Amino acid sequence: MSGIVIFGAGGRAGRAITAEARSRGHRVTAVVRDPARHPDLATDGVRVVPGDVTDVRAIAAIGEGHDAAVHAVSPMSGPQQGFDDLDPAFFVQAADALVGGLSEAGVPRLVAIGLFSTLESPGGGLVMDDPAAYPPEFRSFAKELRPFAAAHAAGLDRLREAGSAVDWLMLTPPARLEADGTRTGGYRIGGETAPRWEVRLSYADLAVAALDEIETPRHHRTRVSVFGDGEDGA
Ligand SMILES: NC(=O)c1ccc[n+]([C@@H]2O[C@H](COP(=O)([O-])OP(=O)(O)OC[C@H]3O[C@@H](n4cnc5c(N)ncnc54)[C@H](OP(=O)(O)O)[C@@H]3O)[C@@H](O)[C@H]2O)c1
Repeated sequence: MSGIVIFGAGGRAGRAITAEARSRGHRVTAVVRDPARHPDLATDGVRVVPGDVTDVRAIAAIGEGHDAAVHAVSPMSGPQQGFDDLDPAFFVQAADALVGGLSEAGVPRLVAIGLFSTLESPGGGLVMDDPAAYPPEFRSFAKELRPFAAAHAAGLDRLREAGSAVDWLMLTPPARLEADGTRTGGYRIGGETAPRWEVRLSYADLAVAALDEIETPRHHRTRVSVFGDGEDGA
């Protein structure tokens, strides 16, 4: 059994990863900004604590005694919320605070969840600059999404610059990341190029990949794509 601290534990990815971690017998520290907003999170084996992912001191204190951390934080929940309030430096601040705080606390492993739009487009360039790489239903707001994608990409760059302090991995899902998708227990790992826009992954299987990489780290200080098992990514 390991101790895993999950930042963004009240969100869709965070909840799926918390559930997967508990089903495998790990002890979870669930970090949310306001525990009162997540009364259902505190179950057997899950301790809920307040914390902000951009606060290095909080991360150093909360991280103590854990074997791994998960970064499943997003300042925006989707296009319906709009992106007007986006701080372009958010993901850079989070990367700095996580690398600083986790290394101070002696947490060796960090699994972060990435964003599809930051991958390379099969057509060349980045997905964020190629609306055709998005599923049709997303294409009309691809332009609106771009600053969010650029902020995410800057966070990834910051992790890449961070050196060896923490053994991080960014798992980047396909555009069709489905909250109501089932847990198949399988997934495929790809490289820097986005899978075809038709490809899907459930949050539950994203959580399987995250826990596999915590229990048996296979990818180190890099970003990979992850998509549904049986899906043809190319
Ligand atoms: N297809 C794709 O590539 C795709 C699709 C969706 C999401 N994602 C990515 O996956 C990751 C997780 O997204 P999600 O869908 O799980 O998002 P979500 O459901 O919106 O959850 C995000 C959580 O982040 C928390 N949060 C926001 N600001 C925070 C801060 N400063 N400190 C600590 N926690 C904070 C919020 O928690 P509280 O409000 O409770 O504090 C919220 O519960 C993000 O990186 C997102 O961009 C990728």
